[in-house]
Amino acid sequence: MSGLFISFEGGEGAGKSTQIGLLAERLKDSGREIVVTREPGGTAEAEAIRSLLVSGDVGRWSAPAEALLNSAARDSHLRGSIRPALERGAIVLCDRFMDSTRAYQGYAGGCDMGLIDALEQAVVGATRPHLTLIIDLDPELGLARTKGRADGLAEDRYERKGLDFHRTLREGFLAIAAREPERCRVIDGGQEPQAAAAAIWQQVSRVLRRG
Ligand code: TMP
Repeated sequence: MSGLFISFEGGEGAGKSTQIGLLAERLKDSGREIVVTREPGGTAEAEAIRSLLVSGDVGRWSAPAEALLNSAARDSHLRGSIRPALERGAIVLCDRFMDSTRAYQGYAGGCDMGLIDALEQAVVGATRPHLTLIIDLDPELGLARTKGRADGLAEDRYERKGLDFHRTLREGFLAIAAREPERCRVIDGGQEPQAAAAAIWQQVSRVLRRG
């Protein structure tokens, strides 16, 4: 059996983690192995790179440097976790993937899209998600949600980038969805979590039926 690769994307505080948890719960009885993972992260090496990216001074990395670091983390994640899981036939639920690099570093950060295309080609290659759920939310609401979080992790370097960055980021994700409508589906993150979960389930059922 071949695996199924689903990525979740969106701005800060859009509700990805809640939705991944709800979907993983719903898939529990499917008889398939479920792998929940995240980017940057998912292997010890990629988690080490994550800590460099998500904390510290807002200006510590340029957008191209961030694209390179995220791609190095992604390469480790793909080779160490995602591809082996897909080869075992697992359903992989990934909290962010290549579209975050395009939206954060490309659209919002101004990194040359040619570099992002080349990195995607070299690192991701054919291992593109079968389905990408883009959870769309007004960034003012999303950022307000993240401020209410008391996880004490201080992984807030991107949250401190300012509202204009987050508005452009949202447009970036919507542009990605418009460019690849078969792979990417936009989910309204402003609705109740259970309603968003139902919309997500509709999309997941469609790709599960397709096999
Ligand atoms: P998270 O907080 O949603 O787990 O994601 C960590 C941060 O990393 C988030 O602010 C988005 C950012 N990010 C990028 O800028 N580019 C990327 O390629 C990825 C995967 C994440």
